[in-house]
Amino acid sequence: MCGIIGYIGKEKCLPKIIHGLECLEYRGYDSAGVAYINNKNIIINKEKGKIINLKNNLNLENESYIGIGHTRWATHGEANKINAHPHQVGKFTIVHNGIIENYSELKKMLEKNKYSFKSETDTEIACALIDYLYNKEKDILKAIEKALKTLEGSYALGIICSDDLEHIYAVKKTSPLIIASSKFGNFIASDVPAILEFTNKYYLLNDAEICILSTDKLEFYNQDLKNIKKQIKTFEGTYESAAKGGYEHFMLKEINEQDKVFKDTINYYFDGTIKSLEKNFIGFSKFKKIDIIACGSAYHTGLIGKSLIEKYANIPVNVEIASEYRYKKSFYDKKTLVILVSQSGETADTLAALKKAKEDGIKTLAIVNVIGSTIAREADEVIYIKAGCEIAVATTKAYLAQVAIFSLLAIYLGYHNKLIDNDDLKEIFKELNKMPSLIKKTISKANNYYDIAEKIYKNNQIFFIGRGIDYALCMEASLKLKEISYINSVAYQAGELKHGTISLIEKNRVVIAIATDEELINKTISNIKEVKARGAHVILVTNTNFAEKFYDDLIIVQKTHPILQPILTIIPMQLLAYKVAKNKGCDIDKPRNLAKSVTVE
Ligand code: M6R
Repeated sequence: MCGIIGYIGKEKCLPKIIHGLECLEYRGYDSAGVAYINNKNIIINKEKGKIINLKNNLNLENESYIGIGHTRWATHGEANKINAHPHQVGKFTIVHNGIIENYSELKKMLEKNKYSFKSETDTEIACALIDYLYNKEKDILKAIEKALKTLEGSYALGIICSDDLEHIYAVKKTSPLIIASSKFGNFIASDVPAILEFTNKYYLLNDAEICILSTDKLEFYNQDLKNIKKQIKTFEGTYESAAKGGYEHFMLKEINEQDKVFKDTINYYFDGTIKSLEKNFIGFSKFKKIDIIACGSAYHTGLIGKSLIEKYANIPVNVEIASEYRYKKSFYDKKTLVILVSQSGETADTLAALKKAKEDGIKTLAIVNVIGSTIAREADEVIYIKAGCEIAVATTKAYLAQVAIFSLLAIYLGYHNKLIDNDDLKEIFKELNKMPSLIKKTISKANNYYDIAEKIYKNNQIFFIGRGIDYALCMEASLKLKEISYINSVAYQAGELKHGTISLIEKNRVVIAIATDEELINKTISNIKEVKARGAHVILVTNTNFAEKFYDDLIIVQKTHPILQPILTIIPMQLLAYKVAKNKGCDIDKPRNLAKSVTVE
């Protein structure tokens, strides 16, 4: 998610812009850049990777009092210096957050009008459009207003023009942008944390409103270019509370982002047609066997992947914990694809497994969140999930996005291997479209899961049981609960209980049973009855209505196509774990002994 900051005032701009960018780091980015005015020239500096790379190439003490800065989360075009913002075309230099949907038709029009482009970005097109309109209108405000009417999609723009070196222009549609004011100057920013060091006074820019920022003045215009007055706001919270966007914990914020994360991840590879999947995944169809290697929750997404790919594409899949895999004999050959799954892309054991496979000459694919991370760079192929920056140690949105990628892979491979036909595809695509709203709806029922959390949070041992793909979900649900609440929770294959573990079941022992797989549901119900008969307190998580009541508490998840079902089923489990940990007063975002990125063996 891109971040924007801009400053115009009496103090040097670069230290403020760099500080603002650092405060926006949590949004996730893969390059950073600034444009500032020095000696009546607009100077642009940008670098791939971390803000420190940019900082190292800048003299923060430059005599510059006006500038705009940006952190880019790649959408159009890869993460490199050329695609990094700011972009400059003609007299305009801009930073942009969002997506210009009609950029390809605008590009054609602009090319006909003698514009040429250096980057692959939609931003450079928006910049050229403003320049083109300015050449016609000879008025910056009118050019921006005309551009607003032409640009489709979502965007927040910070703009400077070489014909007017005393102002910053700001405008937005859908993407967030605030205008902040202080005694020593004015700011634009994507989010409050970027300006909190300097001021807590800000204005919310509405869609299609334009702001002209001067050193000591702010002017606001509506879409008819009428001067308007806006209400100033005061942010009362701290930096941390601002970065959490009003949520009490990052984990809760990230759970609530999952509908968007799903959409962003799916839309990146899938445009509603099987052709888009073919284009993105064709290289993976030639493999006869798949090894999925990962750690922790990423390993659990691999278990879901195995279930889906074996069932829908008839390809054998072996899933292994990276720390085991790296030291054991592997039975792969040239027809094996090794998939490494990692949110951070830096997990030491997963990286070692990747190196091992590469040394053996086996093709590797990384499913990773952090752009430009080591695993992403070293694997032969990479599929990025689009989860954005995940801060809570307990992963939620990255897990969901990884599962979404496995669903897409299973759909594509199943179709390629003729196990999914056109009618099946129609049905799956219909459900895929509904998923963001179903995810949202599932999250909105948090209070139902919280009521159950109230009943169980004092237990010191909780069991999860399920079969098949539901067992894979139990593994993740159990890890989520134990890592943040410190309750000893264990996941078992429901059918395996009677071979030993059932001796632990006694009166009021909490057993959470996940039963969504139609083919196995009756078998799981029998196992639930076995624990219920021995006094367990059963919480049933299911997508099916039953006439008979063989459970104590019920969590109903919306039924969808089985290839997508895990994406909905995990959400109540995340919220249940969250609430249990909250009731216990645990440090939810930073559980004891854990690190977000495990870079040691
Ligand atoms: O960054 P990675 O996905 O490679 O990390 C793997 C595990 O360390 C991670 O999933 C861990 O299990 C989380 N704490 C789970 O919430």
